[in-house]
Amino acid sequence: EGNKLWGGRFVGNTDPIMEKFNASIAYDQRMWDADIRGSKAYVKALEKAELVTTEEMNSILHGMEQISEEWAKGAFVVKPGDEDIHTANERRLKELIGEPAGKLHTGRSRNDQVVTDMRIWLCDAIATLKEDALQLVATMVERASVEIDVLFPGYTHMQRAQPIRWSHWILSHAVAVSRDVERLQEIRSRTNVLPLGSGAIAGTPFNIDRELLRKELEFDGISINSMDATGERDFVAEFLFWASLCLTHLSKMAEDLLLYSTKEFSFIALADAYSTGSSLMPQKKNADSLELIRSKAGRVLGRCAGFMMTIKGLPSSYNKDLQEDKEAMFDCFDTLHGALRVTTGVMSTLKINRPVMEAALSPDMLATDLAYYLVRKGLPFREAHGLSGRAVFQAESKNVPLNQLTVEDLAAISPLFDRDVAAVWDYSSSVEQYSAPGGTARSSVTAQVQHLRRWLQDH
Ligand code: ARG
Repeated sequence: EGNKLWGGRFVGNTDPIMEKFNASIAYDQRMWDADIRGSKAYVKALEKAELVTTEEMNSILHGMEQISEEWAKGAFVVKPGDEDIHTANERRLKELIGEPAGKLHTGRSRNDQVVTDMRIWLCDAIATLKEDALQLVATMVERASVEIDVLFPGYTHMQRAQPIRWSHWILSHAVAVSRDVERLQEIRSRTNVLPLGSGAIAGTPFNIDRELLRKELEFDGISINSMDATGERDFVAEFLFWASLCLTHLSKMAEDLLLYSTKEFSFIALADAYSTGSSLMPQKKNADSLELIRSKAGRVLGRCAGFMMTIKGLPSSYNKDLQEDKEAMFDCFDTLHGALRVTTGVMSTLKINRPVMEAALSPDMLATDLAYYLVRKGLPFREAHGLSGRAVFQAESKNVPLNQLTVEDLAAISPLFDRDVAAVWDYSSSVEQYSAPGGTARSSVTAQVQHLRRWLQDH
């Protein structure tokens, strides 16, 4: 075991099965760049503390740059003994520059190294996801602005509820994603804290200038407690929950669009670019993009729940269980990066079928407005609701649409019904009543568009 970085106290060899079980290099090599950035900063702190000479520092920096080039070119050769990205890079450094490599890990532990790498990696990943999410919001806001005059049925309990603007539906999802962006920023502020200089558990006994490390690595702050810094993964858990919540939003949207894209609804048609066919039924055009977005919410939530179970009941400080954090983090990033961009693609290319959407509106969806008609004539709402309900019942009994009841029919229900009731049966004027902030009137939806455009400029 002489070739292992920790081999000194060992005489026996590692079982190859254990070797494979223990290794994380297959996936944590994704953090090669963060690992090298961390080591380059660390050697500068070592030099300042006079633990390496300037010459040794330059040699290590140069070696690290060479290793970086190897990774970037895909030329880095992972050797069978490489346990993780940290040991692999250090092994390679020794091969390249010889002895000074052995000084790099002075006062450092893989415990503070790995979590530094992860925080660097995640901050970069968060920046990418933020851009993805902003693209989606921008796409939706522009679509909402262009199609603002299209009306269609709004559903509650999946039952026909009230006429709304199609843009109102679009923006309902855009505002949820905008909150996801805000949440992501909050997570970033807690992620962007430097653990390096915490050692394995107790801190560092050397003159390591942690403020220098912070500046070099562009962190906003340094960790307060070395045990917390090395043994806590709440920043990962938060990110996994964020991913779950964001995909839950996308999944809700996907589910609506799937329904709207069925022949029975025919409100929308997905672009070929986001659909697939059947190997058996030639007529099929399946909305696989939307189904996958819906399904990924389950996948990501599973990652979140799985990791929470891993950390539940762990004792303080670093335990190897924490190695499980990385696959969850990478998978959630990859999944969200894909799902957000596919959703943007779907939303920017789908076609709406305006005549079908508007023809799907029906007078029963104006029963609430019929009650409001009576409210405007002075009736308490509860009473008006009851009388409008009676009108609905009568229309159903007579098997006619609600707006086909005669004024006499209605007057028998309440003397407050008069000829002017005819004005109720107009979908456009119906939606225009909902002009308070947040409503579906044109002015209100326009204000929502403007609000989100300003928000986009600020983010
Ligand atoms: N590969 C390890 C991980 O992912 C690095 C830290 C190992 N530390 C240790 N003391 N064994 O967590």
